[in-house]
Amino acid sequence: MTVTIIVGGFWGDEGKGKIISYIAYSEDPFIIARGGVGTNAGHTVVFEGKQYGLRMIPSGFTSKKSRLLIGAGVLADPEIFLKEIKETGCSDRIGLDFHTGIIETQHKEADKKDKHLSEKLGTTGTGCGPANEDRARRVLKLAKDVHELQPYLTDVSKEINEAIDSGKNVVIEGTQGTMLSLFHGTYPFVTSKDVSASQFCSDVGIGPTKVDEVIIVFKAFMTRVGAGPMPGTLSDKEMQLRGWTEHGTVTGRERRSAPIDFDVARKAIRLNGATQIALTKLDIICPKIAGADSAESLTPKALEFIANVEKETGIPVTFVGTGPEAEALIDLRKEKL
Ligand code: GTP
Ligand code: IMP
Ligand code: MG
Repeated sequence: MTVTIIVGGFWGDEGKGKIISYIAYSEDPFIIARGGVGTNAGHTVVFEGKQYGLRMIPSGFTSKKSRLLIGAGVLADPEIFLKEIKETGCSDRIGLDFHTGIIETQHKEADKKDKHLSEKLGTTGTGCGPANEDRARRVLKLAKDVHELQPYLTDVSKEINEAIDSGKNVVIEGTQGTMLSLFHGTYPFVTSKDVSASQFCSDVGIGPTKVDEVIIVFKAFMTRVGAGPMPGTLSDKEMQLRGWTEHGTVTGRERRSAPIDFDVARKAIRLNGATQIALTKLDIICPKIAGADSAESLTPKALEFIANVEKETGIPVTFVGTGPEAEALIDLRKEKL
């Protein structure tokens, strides 16, 4: 029995969606529960020839057997939630906590209109910040108050704790990245909540003693979207030269990029108590490994990159991403280097 949490190590968009979709379809955990802020997250999942840009439904929908849950600490936008249920066909196995907070039109409008939020901070405009303000004021509507959500409501904490007590595997998926944490990140250029492993436990209602593994996802280079500092940020020209350009899943905005800063990586490992690393997009640094799914395909350059990450961080790299598809991944838990 294992309880595993997946967290982002930088400023979000590290490829958590891809790692979770792989773990889900290859291991069929009993429960996959989503923590994190809300619809500001955009996880890309490429599975069975189709690309999904998910903002509500857990990326682990790729397991056809797992129960999919959204915790009380998350913010839900009912329209997006219902739309993604249809897209992913998970209506019979998705559950939302009675106390999940609800994003309403006024929250999205406030997020877009407020100059401090939209211009200074460069928020996603999805209403998450204003909804969390209302939650702190204790006036936010909860899922139990929304008619069309009634068929999906459940006690997420109870379901997960019962599964853990009966020896089942549970995966908790986080969103955003540690450097966007309201408490530990690059304040004020952060999101409206903590986004570390401890917060994700709270979001879904489990205590810290229940967690076995924390997988931290690092991209092979760092990216950031929206305002705020990122050490080593490259010029547009240099970014293009290296092929490190990306666009946001939610807003379509261009992401800035930089080489991995190991002070940032070590800080993120510390804040999350991370036990292993999933390293995504190594195929962008080492194109020869594109699409590879076995350790035999790793070139000397790729092996050197992995060895350096392990030396600098002191924890093992257990997954290597070699392409956007869930299957384009080397699972180093199965194969020793
Ligand atoms: P947030 O919850 O918003 O932080 O998102 P995320 O961590 O799920 O990442 P997101 O899907 O927003 O961005 C990651 C991007 O990298 C997507 O376009 C993925 O398809 C892509 N990607 C992930 N892993 C790999 C990989 O190993 N190789 C390549 N080439 N692309 C990858
Ligand atoms: P908010 O979370 O919409 O309030 O935005 C605050 C900051 O966090 C902005 O810089 C956003 O771009 C960033 N942000 C929030 N969620 C994500 C995410 O999932 N990926 C990347 N950046 C994010
Ligand atoms: Mg994203």
